[in-house]
Amino acid sequence: MASIRELPPSGISRFERIGAHTHIKGLGLDEKLRAIKIQDGMVGQEKAREAAGLVVRMIKEGKLSGKCIILAGPPGTGKTAIAVAVSRELGENVPFIQMSGSEIYSSERKKTEILIEAIRKCIGVEIHEMRKVYEGEVTRVDIKTAPHPYNPYQKVPESVHLTLKTKEEEKSIEAGPSIAQQIIAEGISEGHVIQIDAETGRVVNLGLSLESTKGKTYDVDTTRKIPPPTGKVLKEKEFVYTLTLNDLDELNARQRSGGFFSLLFGGSESKEIDTEVRMAVDQQVKEWVDSGKAFIHPGVLFIDDSHLLDLEAFSFLGRAMESELVPIIILATNRGVARIRGTDVKSPLGFPIDLIDRSVIITTQPYDVESVKEILRIRSEEEKIELDSKALERLAEVGAKSSLRYAVQLLSLAAQNAKALNKKKVAIEDVQRVDELFKDISEAAEYLRKYEEKLMIH
Ligand SMILES: Nc1ncnc2c1ncn2[C@@H]1O[C@H](COP(=O)(O)OP(=O)(O)OP(=O)(O)O)[C@@H](O)[C@H]1O
Ligand SMILES: [Mg+2]
Repeated sequence: MASIRELPPSGISRFERIGAHTHIKGLGLDEKLRAIKIQDGMVGQEKAREAAGLVVRMIKEGKLSGKCIILAGPPGTGKTAIAVAVSRELGENVPFIQMSGSEIYSSERKKTEILIEAIRKCIGVEIHEMRKVYEGEVTRVDIKTAPHPYNPYQKVPESVHLTLKTKEEEKSIEAGPSIAQQIIAEGISEGHVIQIDAETGRVVNLGLSLESTKGKTYDVDTTRKIPPPTGKVLKEKEFVYTLTLNDLDELNARQRSGGFFSLLFGGSESKEIDTEVRMAVDQQVKEWVDSGKAFIHPGVLFIDDSHLLDLEAFSFLGRAMESELVPIIILATNRGVARIRGTDVKSPLGFPIDLIDRSVIITTQPYDVESVKEILRIRSEEEKIELDSKALERLAEVGAKSSLRYAVQLLSLAAQNAKALNKKKVAIEDVQRVDELFKDISEAAEYLRKYEEKLMIH
């Protein structure tokens, strides 16, 4: 008997991570875009959610490119949560790029370069292309080989004779060595449905035809089974690809970087893409759009903690918003009247006035005890923590007194404490104990004041 050993199932079946915003599933609005108090993991903050709902609607209709939306409010009031909800509402087809204001500071790349790249990653280009293809189920394949020109003992494919069948017709074609090689490499034989590009000769194996003998037998194999194609064997077919402007930039830059030196020393690995390449891509995309071959889907660039951007970056964003191919830009900040980075000037939100003037502002308010309690309840479900009602009450009080974030942190710590005591449910004692062990911001400040003289200052 073959020695096959069965392994016990491993404890971890799925790698699961619980991030700060995993409980957010959407904005929680009804069809009239009114916020339902508790829905999709969202609690309260109705006005901001409704405003975000309108933004989502406009983005989906493609009406809101090149606009700037500012999310402003105190720390822990759900600005990032709302941006996450917006991305969930937009779905997978709309590009949504999230970055932090601090990401523009790199020693290797220019700030503006990082911003341009982020902006271009947010613009989707749906390209439609009509191509002539031979498509059909292979009913005969005959590969002719010939001796290798330098090594007569080795045989190489010279040509291939193929018969392709659709529901309507059957056609035989003959092709040269490159197609023959692809047929061998892809393991194509009778029963497979294939596509051959009439111009480039690229062969694609689509799967096994359901009506072929191989397709009908239930074999242990992973090949996809598809119905046999209809229509003529040689036909014009529409192909749709969705790329971003940044993908196109990279493709173009790679094509250009191949030169004489790249043959000797490998491709020139440049960290930045030339402006020229970007201009060529824009030109090409515009031509495609004009001729109806491509459609633009502006997405969203969300810059969290954007008070960390400096004047240079702000002015760059301001200018970028006026060009043609730009996404919607969402900036979040928790600053009040603050210094604009890179200057000595104070300004509301730490943003330049002209940028604020070009934007619409959504504000978030601190939560009341009831909302904090509800958010904590949702978080405890998300983190799979069992909590008794008194513990929840106590946590909500802590949250209202200090901050929602602090209460969310305490929740996980209290659960850890209960686990250490072999308890399944978190009780009020666990919350009280971790609240004593850890300090919130005001308690920490109090401590610093008390021991000011004893602490090191440099
Ligand atoms: N309305 C809400 N409904 C559900 N969860 C929320 C809500 N508001 C905030 N949260 C959750 O509370 C925590 C803190 O909120 P968030 O990180 O969004 O605050 P913020 O406004 O971005 O703060 P900061 O200014 O510090 O970045 C997160 O885990 C978030 O998912
Ligand atoms: Mg945030």
